[in-house]
Amino acid sequence: MSKLRTFTSLTAALALASFSASPSLSDSAAPMPPFKAHVDMKTFMEHVLTPAAQIVWSVNGSVIDAKGEHDLSPRTDDDWERITSGAATLAEATNALMIPGRARDTEWNFYVKKLADAADKAYQAAEAHDLKSVAEVSDRLDGICASCHRHYGLE
Ligand code: HEC
Repeated sequence: MSKLRTFTSLTAALALASFSASPSLSDSAAPMPPFKAHVDMKTFMEHVLTPAAQIVWSVNGSVIDAKGEHDLSPRTDDDWERITSGAATLAEATNALMIPGRARDTEWNFYVKKLADAADKAYQAAEAHDLKSVAEVSDRLDGICASCHRHYGLE
């Protein structure tokens, strides 16, 4: 291990000495991507995760207004586009939950992954206009959010 490190840093030093102007050096010693948590966890939950999840939940929902009850389940291509956007946003947001510094303990990513897998399923199903499968994910999404919240003593 330490031998390897010595070798690596020697190689890097040699590379630096002979190719200090070469842009390829930065490829071989790629630094950590500049991840940045832009908002605090409460804001992330309220303004990133919840709006995306609500779109997925809408497949099972209905609203009642003056004209009666309206089923919110997707019918038109535009409806499906909206569900696809929500599911894709939810899935990609799970990566942001794993930005270094966000994890509260070693089990954090286990809960994130459960959400990521469900969101990914919803996304695939939305792409396929498969209402039954999106609805199935939508039904258990709340339980996935809640299991993480319970673990951290939030509900
Ligand atoms: C990996 C763990 C985890 C998962 C998964 C998770 N949450 Fe959270 N959630 C938290 C934590 C931690 C807080 C507390 C944030 C704080 O107040 O600092 C929180 C708080 C919240 C809050 C309250 C924000 C407030 O106003 O205080 C909402 C709403 C919320 N989450 C929605 C969701 C939804 C919707 C999902 C699922 C789609 C979800 N969360 C999944 C960890 C998680």
